[in-house]
Amino acid sequence: MLVLGGGARESALARAFARSPSVAEVVVAPGNAGTVVAAHAGNAAIRRGSIPAGLTADAVVELARREQADLVVVGPETPLCDGVVDALEAAGILAFGPRKNAAILEGSKAFLKRFATRHGIPTAAYDVVTTLAEAEAVIRRKGAPIVVKADGLCAGKGVVVASTEAEALEAARAMLVEKRFGAAGATVILEDVLPGEEVSVLVVTDGERLFILPPARDHKRAFDHDVGPNTGGMGAFAPSALLSPAMMARVEREIVRPTIAGMAAEDRPFRGVLFAGIMVTPAGEPLLLEHNVRFGDPECEALMALLDGDVAELCASAARGALDVDAVAIAADRHALAVILAAHGYPASPRAGDVIHGLDRAGAVDGVVVHHAGTAEKGGAVVTAGGRVLAVTATGASLAEARARAYEAVAAISFDGMHFRGDIALETTAAPR
Ligand code: AMP
Ligand code: GLY
Repeated sequence: MLVLGGGARESALARAFARSPSVAEVVVAPGNAGTVVAAHAGNAAIRRGSIPAGLTADAVVELARREQADLVVVGPETPLCDGVVDALEAAGILAFGPRKNAAILEGSKAFLKRFATRHGIPTAAYDVVTTLAEAEAVIRRKGAPIVVKADGLCAGKGVVVASTEAEALEAARAMLVEKRFGAAGATVILEDVLPGEEVSVLVVTDGERLFILPPARDHKRAFDHDVGPNTGGMGAFAPSALLSPAMMARVEREIVRPTIAGMAAEDRPFRGVLFAGIMVTPAGEPLLLEHNVRFGDPECEALMALLDGDVAELCASAARGALDVDAVAIAADRHALAVILAAHGYPASPRAGDVIHGLDRAGAVDGVVVHHAGTAEKGGAVVTAGGRVLAVTATGASLAEARARAYEAVAAISFDGMHFRGDIALETTAAPR
């Protein structure tokens, strides 16, 4: 198995694959300092693969050939949107993830919104604009608050929830005139702000059949009580009680199935993992915020801890177009939670090179796995090398037990400038819907 990426998500995937009976060896490229630590985590060995040119299609195909990979699993969205799965398929190598023409669900928010309209998928009302004059007319007409989104991939920085018209105009100007995101911001989506609570629904699919994972919740703001700037995600847990089984059935019927069927009908068959970002409105309506075409990070760390069985076979069967929904089972009485430990200055300008202490002690806490993300080795020490540094992940028989274990492990770890949220999984929602 070849896993592409270097975050905690890929660490969680690699360990899940190493536990899978069908797997002999897992290679992670580029991986991180923790890939070596994880080497003996399952029945299969895990090691780092070398990919000096980054995750370009050519470099990935070359590495997959060299490693004789039976299956390549792509972690991040950028290579998917660049067509890495198309290149692997053309080389005769099995790959888990959508082709370029299906990855557009995440790669273009304008495509996503129009697709949702075409297929009757509930989402916020929107306009698509390409000039500042058009943007201004829409902003004046709709008023604030209003959401301003760059069309293309912006590493999570392309969405502004503007509370005033002036703020919305400024965001539109930065994208359309100042070209802050280059071509990714040449088209802008202006949409209504949806009130409510967010939840992530991830589905493994072969383009037709579905394996629906338990609902997960991310915590996107940098600091406790949902304040501070947006981040890639500061922590997650699953399952979330926000979606009852009846609501999950609605999400499947109204959002997931129409997406998979709509993509097939438009000759863009979707294989891989579809990650629907859902807003549950105060009236209890599930609306689609966005689709991602990959596992969420840190949702993946929590979700992988809930799966028993052969996760590798789940992914391989999806890639082959014959999803084996019995390859894995979702643990009925297990809860999982991941707490991100972030570097000094994250998300604006994370600092690298701080020495990390306490990893062994943290990893020894019952039910805990410390996934590395932005880490590197330097002179025998493990040091920070990215914004999100570690994902401390714990399981328990209850969410409270998982939480207690995760924070016990967090307390054992330290590095200069380390910050994390203390309120992961302290759900504010009173009752499930
Ligand atoms: P997106 O990448 O489109 O999901 O946007 C990133 C984040 O911005 C989401 O996870 C939400 O927290 C927020 N967001 C996006 N669209 C809306 C909306 N229409 N109403 C409220 N919040 C939104
Ligand atoms: N945690 C949100 C994401 O992966 O996009």
